[in-house]
Amino acid sequence: MSAVCPAGKALLWVHDLSLAYRNGGQPFWVLQDLNFQVPEGGFLAVLGPSGCGKSTLLRVLAGLLPPTRGQVCYASRPLAAPQPEIGLVFQHANLLPWRTVLQNITLPLEIRGVTRREAEARAREMVALVGLEGFEHTLPRDLSGGMAQRVALARALVYRPRLLLLDEPFSPLDTLTREQMWEELLRIWRHTGVTILMVTHSMTEALVLADRVLVLSPRPARLRLDLTVPFPRPRTEEIRFTPLFGELVRRIREAILSG
Ligand SMILES: Nc1ncnc2c1ncn2[C@@H]1O[C@H](COP(=O)(O)OP(=O)(O)OP(=O)(O)O)[C@@H](O)[C@H]1O
Ligand SMILES: [Mg+2]
Repeated sequence: MSAVCPAGKALLWVHDLSLAYRNGGQPFWVLQDLNFQVPEGGFLAVLGPSGCGKSTLLRVLAGLLPPTRGQVCYASRPLAAPQPEIGLVFQHANLLPWRTVLQNITLPLEIRGVTRREAEARAREMVALVGLEGFEHTLPRDLSGGMAQRVALARALVYRPRLLLLDEPFSPLDTLTREQMWEELLRIWRHTGVTILMVTHSMTEALVLADRVLVLSPRPARLRLDLTVPFPRPRTEEIRFTPLFGELVRRIREAILSG
């Protein structure tokens, strides 16, 4: 595999990426010839049918799985291992039940040997950023789903990632909490300048939040649609009730459903 990464604006550069899991020697192809780029500071949403390979794609982009073919470049270098600059949030918050909110957030810093004092100071900053002040010493069992998800977000942000990978982070939440989290996420995105790539099953979520929407085919996932979202920011709730929004939902839906 050649390892030439173009110098340029793209923070992530995905070139002819294919991935197969090996089940007893037989390759099980999950990603097929994916090509796309994510500019620094961009917000991409990724949609596709269940089981098509979205979480697998995130694992590759997090440096946890090496491509079987093709190449992934991060900041103009081949991505060969997990990077502290890349934060990953899974669908379930996965908090340690015996650690408080603050202690869950300081964990990645402790693992990397940051002093306790500094770790706590940074965790407190994140607590403020995700709107959890007053809950620093609460245990996960006493948090709502939305609050737990905020802690997971804060934990991913505490290392000040340049790239944030989100795997259906708001799926378990009720509609209102989810919409509140959209606001929070957009605020964090504006405030930190982090680049976001988010997997979601919600077409509305994708169109409300993202600059671009990628739609993947059923497994093995190929790129079906790469759609630029034309709504200016800040976006109001009203965009959801416009004919253009309906038209874009229709295009995404067709791309997901087409064979
Ligand atoms: N570690 C693994 N070993 C072998 N096969 C795997 C592994 N992880 C996932 N798969 C398979 O790869 C395919 C894609 O899985 P993946 O979790 O990436 O899909 P997904 O698009 O995230 O699905 P969902 O929308 O349901 O979350 C599935 O068929 C799954 O069974
Ligand atoms: Mg998944």
